[in-house]
Amino acid sequence: MSIEQPPAPTRPRLSRRVREVPPSGIRRFFDVLATMPDVISLGIGEPDFTTPPQIVEEGVRSLRSGRTHYTSNHGTLELRRALSKMLERLYGVSYDPEREICITVGASEAVGAAMTALIDPGDEVVLHEPSYVAYIPAITFNGGVPVLISTVAADSFALDPAELEAAITPRTRAIFLGYPCNPTGAVLPPVTLRAIAEIAERHDLVVVSDEIYDRLVYGDHRHEAFSALPGMKERTVLMGGFSKAYAMTGWRIGYVCAPPDLLEGIVKVHQYQIMSAPTTAQDAAVVAIQGAEQDVLRMVAEYDRRRRMLVAGLNRIGLPTFEPRGAFYAFPSIIATGLTSEQFSERLLYEGKVAMVPGSAFGPSGEGHVRASYATAFEDIEEALVRIERFVATL
Ligand SMILES: Cc1ncc(COP(=O)(O)O)c(C=O)c1O
Repeated sequence: MSIEQPPAPTRPRLSRRVREVPPSGIRRFFDVLATMPDVISLGIGEPDFTTPPQIVEEGVRSLRSGRTHYTSNHGTLELRRALSKMLERLYGVSYDPEREICITVGASEAVGAAMTALIDPGDEVVLHEPSYVAYIPAITFNGGVPVLISTVAADSFALDPAELEAAITPRTRAIFLGYPCNPTGAVLPPVTLRAIAEIAERHDLVVVSDEIYDRLVYGDHRHEAFSALPGMKERTVLMGGFSKAYAMTGWRIGYVCAPPDLLEGIVKVHQYQIMSAPTTAQDAAVVAIQGAEQDVLRMVAEYDRRRRMLVAGLNRIGLPTFEPRGAFYAFPSIIATGLTSEQFSERLLYEGKVAMVPGSAFGPSGEGHVRASYATAFEDIEEALVRIERFVATL
């Protein structure tokens, strides 16, 4: 005799917060790409260079000398001191290595930990878009509400201070900035930065500033650390990392700097979730700061050369492209083709054998654009342009 089983529970096994975040549009795209031979990828957001050899050697030395243990939660004091000196030298902002710096697992961890430390459920975070794909999930995973402000090529993809101020409500907890911008290549002009600083002051808001592309700026454009603006250090969470400037993506090393009360909260999250950043990578990062400046300049010069070639080529093909001022992405408009950014990317991949990421992956205003990375060999970009031109001619 069979005993009737109770019906299977229908309650979802994953939290609503996680279910409601769509999977990364970029990842899905790369899964397809990985199965296709002969594709030139302008899709990936990481340097094609390998880490400079002296940095690698230090990692190996660190491991061989038995440095295989945890470090302090904050990271090694040696790296925090080196970082503090570097930020002072580059941007004139002074962080106390003992109380105001924490070494993280990439800027990625810094973004997530900062959101956990700052946001209560229902708090609003004002964010410009199109912007890096991890920002919105970092806000919503923590129960926060992203308030999006669109930016457009006609305004050099700069956040408009008036629109920012209009978006602030009593629930606003923080302003989130990601400049130099992935995917647009925008850098905020000094006057805009100062206007945002005044707004932050007026409304007593924290500014979270992801400056991971700080070293990758071109032409006359200069990067200013937001925390270096008058009065801003006390209300800024500065985050950055070694992935981009030093070609160290796989080492997973970044940092967060903030006034002691904010840093203490972020370190609380970090200490329970991570414990400490990888020791090998921390030791290598000291050598990156102290002995790889020429490598950074060499890589930036090469990105610049590729940038100019790629942007000229895209404009010539009839895909109008804002001239990127920082990071290593071009963000051409594909509106003239009559395709959506997903359609364009998909057809270019299958028919033209070139990978570019649909702009819609970076926010609603990214629609009508695609992202092309120039962290790819010069010759590959040249060949990609030939293929893109051929593909666009068929439309
Ligand atoms: C704007 C931005 N922030 C953060 C990250 C993550 O960097 P990390 O490798 O330091 O975690 C990326 C990586 O693409 C990025 O583009």
